[in-house]
Amino acid sequence: MTTAVCPGSFDPVTFGHLDIFTRASAQFEEVTVLVTGNPHKHSGLFSIEERMALIREVTGHLPNVTVDFWAGLLVDYTTAHGVTALVKGLRSSLDYDYELPMAQMNRRLTGVETFFLMTDERFGYVSSSLCKEVVRYGGDVSGLVPEVVHEAMKAKLRE
Ligand code: PNS
Repeated sequence: MTTAVCPGSFDPVTFGHLDIFTRASAQFEEVTVLVTGNPHKHSGLFSIEERMALIREVTGHLPNVTVDFWAGLLVDYTTAHGVTALVKGLRSSLDYDYELPMAQMNRRLTGVETFFLMTDERFGYVSSSLCKEVVRYGGDVSGLVPEVVHEAMKAKLRE
């Protein structure tokens, strides 16, 4: 069974992330979307549980995608689960500069490989943090995040 892990903070999940999960699910038999962070330390807009629930909701139509969380080193999770592939999206050279040392470090630590999917042209500028900023000031991010996520963001940011 070839399983890939898509790791990230996903605070919250965007259509850019969902595009990567969908494309990864077409290439690997199983995909685990792994929300990283400490469930006991509330940092970010959504709790780890809330992020996982939103991801579960928007990936419900993808039968080989599951959602999990991890508070430690990513490679400890992949080793414990026998996973040899990480999949991430690349939007720009900024992502490349950020991702390259992590991919190299992870490979040095355990041999786990990182596979990069180039972002869909519709989502190259989309990030969770930019969407949060737009919603915080009353802007509209529909089309950039799933509707259920948009509603959850509005409820949190405008309450
Ligand atoms: O969505 P993000 O914040 O870009 O995700 C970065 C993430 C979660 C993939 C990275 O911070 C990570 O791997 N965190 C787990 C801790 C870890 O293994 N750190 C060393 C990475 S070489």
